[in-house]
Amino acid sequence: MEIYQHPLAYLLGLEGVALLRAFAGEHDRDFTAARFAEIRALLDRADEFGPGSDVPLMPTARGYDGWARTYDIEDNGSFPLQDEVLLPLLDRLPPGEVIDVACGTGRITRELVRRGHRVRGFDQSPGMLEKARKALPEAEFAEASMTALPVPDGSADHVVCTLALGHLPDLEPFFAEAARVLRPGGHLVVSDTRGHYTGSWLYPLVKEDTEGNVGYVRNWSHPTGAYLRAALRHGFGVRACEEPLRPHPTVDPDEAAEPLDLTEPPDVWTLHPWIPEAANAARAGLPALIIWDFQLA
Ligand SMILES: C[S@@+](CC[C@H](N)C(=O)[O-])C[C@H]1O[C@@H](n2cnc3c(N)ncnc32)[C@H](O)[C@@H]1O
Repeated sequence: MEIYQHPLAYLLGLEGVALLRAFAGEHDRDFTAARFAEIRALLDRADEFGPGSDVPLMPTARGYDGWARTYDIEDNGSFPLQDEVLLPLLDRLPPGEVIDVACGTGRITRELVRRGHRVRGFDQSPGMLEKARKALPEAEFAEASMTALPVPDGSADHVVCTLALGHLPDLEPFFAEAARVLRPGGHLVVSDTRGHYTGSWLYPLVKEDTEGNVGYVRNWSHPTGAYLRAALRHGFGVRACEEPLRPHPTVDPDEAAEPLDLTEPPDVWTLHPWIPEAANAARAGLPALIIWDFQLA
């Protein structure tokens, strides 16, 4: 299933969201007039944005095998935003047996090991696991799906799953699996990203595999109630829920826009400086992450 991504569609989409927010009363007449002028100018330059890209679907594990090469060294804004809220929640967990589901390169496994837990990490990407094994010989790692963990019932004190549940179309099987492997009273600490395609539940991540093929990995922005309903159905109570906001402004109004590489699908981060006022208005005050601490009854 291919998706079609055109840089102008993203830019006009941000203008549209900014206009809706002005229409709702967040901005004035001058702001609205500036958006009309900017949209006209963008459309006058439409040819400069190329024909857009048909982006093929890429299996999640293949996308992460490719991303593993740079995952730990990229400037990923989600990490500091997450750590500020998540790490104090981890501080509260009594040391024990912890399962790090979708552990990736072991960013959070390391934090758990530091806090005195015995940690088993599972992930479906061999490339991400290879990095984790090299970085953390004190933990155990194996390939497994988030919804079929190779561990006995009631064998974990806590389960942690960070920045990964968006890859599941339905949260229910994950919460069922977490409830199965946890001991009564165990914590389930979860974080997840919220998509930046305002108004869509879809949140495709465009990635390059290890052979240089570009595709998108599927990702969903689940509504807050979907976590809650799945958790309650499987016997969890809520101990904490935080939604850290996107940094504002998203883009410095004086940042120069980079020329576009029309041979690749558009990188949304390099598009924001093309229309800083609209990008900042469209993204202001929206949660970037959701972070939960659940406890099994
Ligand atoms: C954004 S990374 C997060 C890694 C790590 N938890 C962290 O916070 O840095 C998402 C991870 O989820 C893994 N993943 C995605 N879908 C999965 C699934 N169905 N089963 C197991 N792992 C999965 C990917 O391979 C990737 O390593």
